[in-house]
Amino acid sequence: MAVIAGNWKMHMAPEEARTFFSAFEIDEMMADNEVLIFPPAISLLAAYKCENRDPRVQLGIQNVHWENSGAFTGEISAEMAASAGASYALVGHSERRQLFGETDEQVALKVAAVLRQDLIPVICVGETLEEREAGRVSEVILTQLDLALASIPDPEIRFLIAYEPVWAIGTGKTATPKDAAGAHGTLRNRLEQAIGVTAAARTEILYGGSVKPSNATELLAAQDVDGVLVGGASVNPQSFAEITRAAG
Ligand code: 13P
Repeated sequence: MAVIAGNWKMHMAPEEARTFFSAFEIDEMMADNEVLIFPPAISLLAAYKCENRDPRVQLGIQNVHWENSGAFTGEISAEMAASAGASYALVGHSERRQLFGETDEQVALKVAAVLRQDLIPVICVGETLEEREAGRVSEVILTQLDLALASIPDPEIRFLIAYEPVWAIGTGKTATPKDAAGAHGTLRNRLEQAIGVTAAARTEILYGGSVKPSNATELLAAQDVDGVLVGGASVNPQSFAEITRAAG
């Protein structure tokens, strides 16, 4: 079983989300896989209420504020996301970190806020090209992981990790299955130390960064890769369906 997640980023207005779900089908034999879509917040409710959405497609929010409510113009809380149909929340996506200055401390607060609403956090980690070239992959992703894990009080709580090397996002450059397996192995080892071997084994670690129908099979076959987080190729119902089939 694999987790196939689509992050629509700032694409897919409510009407486009409805059109997507009319065209997106999951093969019956793929029913064991978990399929998640993270629409932009404004399309979440439309996706949730869309009659054409296969109910096996679960929904998530791309980002939350860490407070439940308040004078935070433009922000959306985990509580609001839950009431609009989200079951999952991306936290600490590299675009949030890099373009909007989100810090590890804010990521930790957001993980806690998401858990308060019983949403399942998908904690995103990943190194830049500069950090990779300086041989700092493990150091960077483990620091990001440790700070987020500090907000998870109980090893029984479900959360997911997404390893998304920044240099592979939207660039067409994909990590090789070996690169992905290496980073995922590093993350799994740290999870074993932090939450124990059993909980670490059931924590899904997704790979993200230029995943497409043409490379999904080999990435999903790599050691310790339990799923994929797809950006660009997830807004097209046919290509996203093809990626779900690659999880076979
Ligand atoms: P791309 O698949 O477009 O590279 O995006 C990956 C990503 O950032 C998913 O969260």
